[in-house]
Amino acid sequence: MLMIRTIRQSDYSNVSNLIRTTFANTVNGYRNEAELVDKIRDDPTYQKRLEVVAENGVHLIGHGLLSEIEVVDGAHTVTGLVLAPLAVAPDSQRSGVGSLIMGELDNRAINLGYKFTIVTGWPDYYPRFGYRNASGYGIKSPTPVPDDVFMAKPLVDGGLDGVHGMVHYLQAFNM
Ligand SMILES: CC(C)(COP(=O)(O)OP(=O)(O)OC[C@H]1O[C@@H](n2cnc3c(N)ncnc32)[C@H](O)[C@@H]1OP(=O)(O)O)[C@@H](O)C(=O)NCCC(=O)NCCS
Repeated sequence: MLMIRTIRQSDYSNVSNLIRTTFANTVNGYRNEAELVDKIRDDPTYQKRLEVVAENGVHLIGHGLLSEIEVVDGAHTVTGLVLAPLAVAPDSQRSGVGSLIMGELDNRAINLGYKFTIVTGWPDYYPRFGYRNASGYGIKSPTPVPDDVFMAKPLVDGGLDGVHGMVHYLQAFNM
């Protein structure tokens, strides 16, 4: 049976392997997403509740992590979250696991009082979850990215009202 649950320390090496295998299978290849996760866990703002795994009773087949970002426009700063990374094992893709992980993380984020999330990813996947081009909200990436892959979504009604400016990621992202 599929279960989405909070990460445990004993999952760390399995999660690292899952992320490596999953991203090695993508067009862009593996780009240190496992190291990114390690570094995010070391950040003082890291919250365990915002890191989950999907388990099928035998193996870990998915993983997702939300970490804090700030959107800064002059003296105006708003805190939100970024979804990075999200990974479902290649042989478990296209069966709804990614959607379940995202839904669970969104609910947890809402319960913790966060109002919006951003993601850099497939423009044909994330819009179905409510993501839209971040540029449409006046949210800018600190590094050059194609407009359609850099997306934002309100977690609650009006969650992106008044949110505009440059995204500041955790130091873990090196951006
Ligand atoms: C992106 C990812 C997390 C989606 O997880 P998932 O469990 O497969 O997604 P779901 O089953 O919830 O949703 C299925 C949809 O995702 C998309 N998708 C999933 N796997 C895909 C693949 N290998 N190639 C293209 N599209 C894919 C499709 O649009 C699919 O919808 P469809 O079956 O109606 O065409 C997963 O494919 C993954 O880990 N990919 C590699 C890592 C990655 O690229 N992560 C970040 C993406 S920006």
